[in-house]
Amino acid sequence: MNKKIIVAIDLNNLNKAIKLVKELKNEVFAFKIGHEFFYNFGLDGYHKIYKICPKIFLDLKLHDIPNTVEKGLQAIFKLKPIFTTIHITGGDDMQKVSVLKKNSKTRILGVTVLTSLDKKQILKYYKEKNINTLVKKFSHYAKVNKLNGLVCSPLEIKAVRKEVGREMILVVPGIRLEKKLYNKKDDQKRVLTPTEAIEFGADYLVIGRPITESKNPLKVIRDINKSIQ
Ligand code: C5P
Repeated sequence: MNKKIIVAIDLNNLNKAIKLVKELKNEVFAFKIGHEFFYNFGLDGYHKIYKICPKIFLDLKLHDIPNTVEKGLQAIFKLKPIFTTIHITGGDDMQKVSVLKKNSKTRILGVTVLTSLDKKQILKYYKEKNINTLVKKFSHYAKVNKLNGLVCSPLEIKAVRKEVGREMILVVPGIRLEKKLYNKKDDQKRVLTPTEAIEFGADYLVIGRPITESKNPLKVIRDINKSIQ
């Protein structure tokens, strides 16, 4: 089976996270550790998860001046995650130092535009009416600056693939299992189902709450795996 799911363990309960990782590790590609887990449980928590499953996407979305990001990444590389993230909007120099002299297997992914931003917010903060145009522009610069991959919403996969081709890794959050679950209260705005996202050209799907908040996470994963084979 071609494993494509990355489970976001956005939890503030370490035992629950450990239990979940043990239960799901054979069915998924990797686990994503983000702000909630990392700032609650730190390096100790990271190592606990790493011992059970060493395929970790450490998603800290760095966004700072180039020197700070470069030094931060050097510390991250010691933890040996398979993926880590920086914001593309940190600029060319910040992106360049992220991949410069990198003697690590960690792939650097550039965050294009957060999947939680809708059209209105994108217009307000980026002065751009067309989300695809914006995401394509950021993807283009990420490719020029030699990042290894991109994080984008499922709705932009096709446009991004057209812009950067097949070689960049496309990691896609904003996944909801059924259309009827898209509701206004959800902080994720630009969402699609797993099958749609894979059809459009995603390499990996980041899925958090639809799995972590389910009564039977293993069944959810197995059902998704079946639907995307
Ligand atoms: O719970 P849910 O499935 O919405 O989780 C999505 C995960 O993907 C979260 O951990 C979030 O930090 C991450 N993410 C995102 N949008 C991005 C990049 C990462 O939602 N652009």
